[in-house]
Amino acid sequence: MATTATTWGSRIGFILAGAGSAIGLGSIWKFPFWAGINGGSGFIIPYIIFTFTIGITLLIAELVVGRAGRGSALHALKRLGGPAFSIMGGIAVLTSFVILSYYSVVGGWCVKYLFDSLGGTLVTNDPKVLQATFGALVGDGLTNSLWHLSFLTCGVVALGVVNGIERLSKYLLPTLFILMIVIMIRSLSLPGAMEGVKFLFDFSFDKLTWMSVLNAMGFTFFSLSLGCGIMVTYGAYLKDSTDIPNSSLWIAYLAIQTALLAGLMIMPAVFAMGQDPNAGPGLVFVTIPFIFSQIPFGWFFMILFNVCLLVAALTSSVSLLEVCIAYLQNEWHMKRISASILCYVGLALLGFVSALSFGVWSDVKIFDRIIFDFLDWFCSNIMMPLGGLSIALLAGWKAWNSTYVQVNLVKKYSASANAFIKFSLRFLAPLLVLVVVATGV
Ligand code: PFF
Repeated sequence: MATTATTWGSRIGFILAGAGSAIGLGSIWKFPFWAGINGGSGFIIPYIIFTFTIGITLLIAELVVGRAGRGSALHALKRLGGPAFSIMGGIAVLTSFVILSYYSVVGGWCVKYLFDSLGGTLVTNDPKVLQATFGALVGDGLTNSLWHLSFLTCGVVALGVVNGIERLSKYLLPTLFILMIVIMIRSLSLPGAMEGVKFLFDFSFDKLTWMSVLNAMGFTFFSLSLGCGIMVTYGAYLKDSTDIPNSSLWIAYLAIQTALLAGLMIMPAVFAMGQDPNAGPGLVFVTIPFIFSQIPFGWFFMILFNVCLLVAALTSSVSLLEVCIAYLQNEWHMKRISASILCYVGLALLGFVSALSFGVWSDVKIFDRIIFDFLDWFCSNIMMPLGGLSIALLAGWKAWNSTYVQVNLVKKYSASANAFIKFSLRFLAPLLVLVVVATGV
């Protein structure tokens, strides 16, 4: 079994690739509507707290396991933890493959919406037209699948870690931040926009419900790309001279900052235009185009917005795919190009199932959910938390000595920082993960 010799080109390149993974459809598509459904700050405040406590420690743990194990997620977990953990590594690879299959269906919607916004066809005064456009896209399995195929994650990953993933993130992520700030300023300049800001940040304890806290916990996993082998795989490409805790703080910070930016792009405009913050998944595909249709130069901001969505989706999906490619390279000795082609075919087939679940297969229900929703629910609420649990147990108990060495490799952290990481990995993270899984089930 070969170990990896590839390393990131630079530390900043790695941080941007890691942040690119974290910043995805989760931040721009899911975060605003989840914040809407869960009462704004009652969701946001716990999300920030979870990210800077167990989120960051699990992120550190995944990167540590990757660098100490130097290989695919399966290889790294096996090397550090033995056969039982290698099963969890295998499950992580499978989880990222399944997530990518439905994630890239939404990626396909982003490609289509970018084309539509460039063609000006999303500008309309009638919200029903937008509802119908979105309904027609998701409801038609064939169109849905063709757009899914146009979402070319595999092309980027085939170019390699440094030339493909790192380069993509280095150029696109800063562009994403700039575009988001421009849209946020436009949104905040609308009359009545402050209501949206209040909705997001005005905190009172009655907004805090058991459900909003649990959802925030699950979202922390999704948003930091934890529990499905991504950060383990990225960690395997880290040089020994990269400070893991410090880089993790940067990634977590950038993830939170982007989610908040997304909230501040969307909610002020939603409130200013008297729309429903509770609109669910259609928020960015129906409500947002409608809002931009109503404001001067809205068509231009609509294009920028759809570029943001697509960039975020792409930098994340390459990270999900890299988990599978590293596995195929490591365990099956495949060349990167052939592994990428194989995954493209596999994802096209599995994605087809998700794509059809909105249309002709919408009657097929698993646990009362269509296939797309079931896969999302199962991966986010069961598989990813379980992946996180196994990393916590491995890094916190079984391989704590390696964790300690890796954490302090570049700079010796204080005893209290080390004690916090240890406590969080040993007790806090497992406990919270179990609560999330139990409630999920
Ligand atoms: N963290 C990214 C997002 O929030 O969209 C990408 C992602 C990675 C999503 C892993 C889900 C996941 F399981």
